Amino acid sequence: MSLALGVNIDHIATLRQARRASFPDPLAFATLALACGADYIVAHLRRDRRHIQEEDLKRLCKKFRNKIHLECSYTPEMQKAALALRPYSVCIVPELPGEVTTTGGLKFTPAVQKRVGEMTAALQKKGVKVSLFVSPVAEDIRTAAKLGADIVELCTRDYSEATTQKQAQKLLQDLALSTLLAKELGLEVHAGHGLDYTNVLAVADIGGMACMNIGFAIIARALEVGLPSAVAEMKELL
Ligand code: PXP
Repeated sequence: MSLALGVNIDHIATLRQARRASFPDPLAFATLALACGADYIVAHLRRDRRHIQEEDLKRLCKKFRNKIHLECSYTPEMQKAALALRPYSVCIVPELPGEVTTTGGLKFTPAVQKRVGEMTAALQKKGVKVSLFVSPVAEDIRTAAKLGADIVELCTRDYSEATTQKQAQKLLQDLALSTLLAKELGLEVHAGHGLDYTNVLAVADIGGMACMNIGFAIIARALEVGLPSAVAEMKELL
């Protein structure tokens, strides 16, 4: 099975918001990325609206609904926004005030399980697939299945930040075992966070995953070679 590529366009909007300007336009870059081989467009609606805005998502969903993968936290505000937007899928992520980027998978306390379970059911009732962003540990994958998720996105942050070969190998093994377990439990498997042109191959090689969601590395590479080449180079690696 071929591995799909979700291109996260948050940082197109980060640049626009730096000047509160009307460009660069995430919709224009989403259109370009899809034309150049991206399979999905990923965008994170943050509570502080530091990059992607609701209006961006409205326009993205209007043009490419079945290609839009929304990331958001599990607050009632985000549930309401996600239900109104009705993208193809929603990845529920933890969100901490002041964080530079998502720090890891969901921490499944009883209260978080209750909230995520309610949000999952509400989204699925409207025909939206639900992905849960989880650390590659068995207990969290079992919890995601118990909460009724369609997809788990395995957090690759620790792997991408490994400083030794031994550490990286151990984290790749965790990702591989987590993929096996998730598939056994009937979940589709995605992976993302911190993946780039040098570290993605080893994750892709695990096999059994359906999609990689990659943002920062592709947008940074696009500054050098343009978005079409940046997307095509990543797609080639997958
Ligand atoms: N997947 C999830 C759940 C994320 O929160 C992020 C960051 O927004 C990504 C993937 C993409 O991470 P990166 O920008 O490091 O490629």
